[in-house]
Amino acid sequence: MQEKLKREIITTADGSTTIHLPALNEQYHSKHGAINEAKHVFIKEGLHTILDTDDFEILHILEIGFGTGLNALITYLEGEKRNQNICYVGVEAYPVVFDEVKLMNYPVILNASNKEIVFDKMHQSVWEIPNSISSNFELTKRKQFFTDIDDENTFNLIYFDAFGARVQPELWTVEIFSKMYDALKTKGVLVTYSAKGSVRRAMQEVGFEVERLPGPPGKREMLRATKS
Ligand SMILES: C[S@@+](CC[C@H](N)C(=O)[O-])C[C@H]1O[C@@H](n2cnc3c(N)ncnc32)[C@H](O)[C@@H]1O
Repeated sequence: MQEKLKREIITTADGSTTIHLPALNEQYHSKHGAINEAKHVFIKEGLHTILDTDDFEILHILEIGFGTGLNALITYLEGEKRNQNICYVGVEAYPVVFDEVKLMNYPVILNASNKEIVFDKMHQSVWEIPNSISSNFELTKRKQFFTDIDDENTFNLIYFDAFGARVQPELWTVEIFSKMYDALKTKGVLVTYSAKGSVRRAMQEVGFEVERLPGPPGKREMLRATKS
């Protein structure tokens, strides 16, 4: 269904691009800045928080909605800076096509033009199997519906980056957060840009400890959920 919708490339407030779906009036990232949002929600409040509190020989990350690969690219760059081994799994039911990837300006805006080759490699890598992107970054892209996720006790960190609850309310439910809880290891963390009360309560119902944190530009709050 989603793959039949018209798609437009737009530029967000920090100069980075995203994909806009006019029929849903929804985009892959915040209009207030795709890179600003990714860096704040997933990197600062997720990746940095977890790496600053614990040591991991390999950090296992699950992304809900691989989409354009922006979060994977920034995570790769951060992993390089910290010399951190990362196994990254991106789940996505409707992969972007390579022509769209080439319209995304993330390597340039991130001052990492020399990493465009890495970004391309991520998108050209084979689905369903682990791909070595560099000596310390392994990427597995899974073409899968979120409702079919059944990992257990596998991940340290989840980037929960589904479309908003206005568009896909069925993805912000006890059923899905229960899957996320099971997929995390003990002390594992899930971060998301949403701060809706109903989302927070669904997370708490499945056992998460939930914090409300300051949000990225244009959003007052976001959520971080920990499996204790
Ligand atoms: C907000 S966008 C993700 C943005 C992505 N993290 C990025 O940086 O580009 C949500 C993603 O979820 C995917 N998606 C939507 N519904 C899905 C479902 N039921 N199962 C799996 N993927 C889905 C969309 O195709 C889209 O790529």
